[in-house]
Amino acid sequence: MAVSRRLLLGGAGAALLGGLGYRAWDRGVFQTAQGPAFEPWQDWKGNAGEGAGRSLHAAILAANPHDTQPWLFEAHGASIAVMADRGRNLGAFDPFRREMHLGVGCAIENLMRAASVYGYTINAVVNGGRLAPTPPDKPVAAAHLWLDAGEAMRDPLFEAIPHRHTNRGPYLERPIAAADLQKLAGLIDSAEVRVVFLSDPKARAEMASLIVEATQHIIDDPEMSQASARWIRTGRRDVEQHRDGIVIDNAGLPMWMAEGAKLLPDIDAHTADGQWLKMTRDVQTCVPVLGMILVRDRLEMATAIAAGRAWQRLHLAATTMGLAAQPLNQPVEMVDRNQQRGRNDSFGASLQRLAKLNAWEATFAFRLGYGERPALPSPRRPLSDVLIERG
Ligand SMILES: Cc1cc2nc3c(=O)[nH]c(=O)nc-3n(C[C@H](O)[C@H](O)[C@H](O)COP(=O)(O)O)c2cc1C
Repeated sequence: MAVSRRLLLGGAGAALLGGLGYRAWDRGVFQTAQGPAFEPWQDWKGNAGEGAGRSLHAAILAANPHDTQPWLFEAHGASIAVMADRGRNLGAFDPFRREMHLGVGCAIENLMRAASVYGYTINAVVNGGRLAPTPPDKPVAAAHLWLDAGEAMRDPLFEAIPHRHTNRGPYLERPIAAADLQKLAGLIDSAEVRVVFLSDPKARAEMASLIVEATQHIIDDPEMSQASARWIRTGRRDVEQHRDGIVIDNAGLPMWMAEGAKLLPDIDAHTADGQWLKMTRDVQTCVPVLGMILVRDRLEMATAIAAGRAWQRLHLAATTMGLAAQPLNQPVEMVDRNQQRGRNDSFGASLQRLAKLNAWEATFAFRLGYGERPALPSPRRPLSDVLIERG
């Protein structure tokens, strides 16, 4: 009796382990940043036979909101048209598609850096126009680039393209040298864009509490919460099918917690929001440097693209210095949401007061520091998915 019971239990245990093993495989528990969804990070240089279009392999590795990859390209000879793919939007989370256009700007920055390394001189025309709330979902022309044969340049920021990843984990208390911050500030040379770093404890604490307060507002807004949840990818199948969105491996959790989160059934949006708030308050805003990118008019399309280019450049440069970075754009997301809903807003004025720059408004907030752990790559769709063939 005892033997057969032990056998039965042993069988049940094996079945349970087998089941867990299957689920672990199915959910990609021990598979981090591997498989076809991550191949664009390896093939990022393409090959010389591709002509001007070769630079697009680098373009698609750019930062972009929630990894929506909201871009399309049409490459023909020396000409590259860049479009904002407005169907791939964050809904109420980005009602004016302002962040989407920052993301397109990030891709343009990578594209231009790659093109000059591959020996092209570039003429770029960036399209202007007002960003209006909930525009139609159809693609919109964002910029046109003409690439002519020129002299190949060397560029350490280009080399950083496959190493730049958003790091949502804890950062060390180690401060960033003022000279390094100055070097970063010096990269933003455009008259349209400014960057401000907040490293003194009082300003940082104020900025941190604005970010936490904005996060609370976002999770209290069901439309915003759902719009964000639509782009969260949990299991392996989800990642392989979509090749976009925020994946658990990039949420900034310690490895054991990320593995547990993949193994367990998906948590509901409310629980996920609570964890996001806690991470924001207890981890992500406790850093040596918070910062923001400011522009004259955050709802002007060309300006949003310029701000995106600035962020991509900053993040690439930070990567070359061994610094980790993460956008924390909740306060500006609330400025947009309040404007869309016709509500009073205090976030915009608070950001402007902290930046001490009259007549400039924040369009992007972020943190910088030395990461405790390296960040992993996020998925990317293949280049062929975002290329428009000429009809
Ligand atoms: C305009 C913009 C806003 C973003 N806002 C946030 C944010 O508030 N919080 C965050 O963790 N990441 C934010 N990100 C980072 C993206 O989620 C990230 O770039 C994307 O998931 C791709 O991952 P990667 O940067 O590691 O390649 C933002 C990126 C951009 C371009």
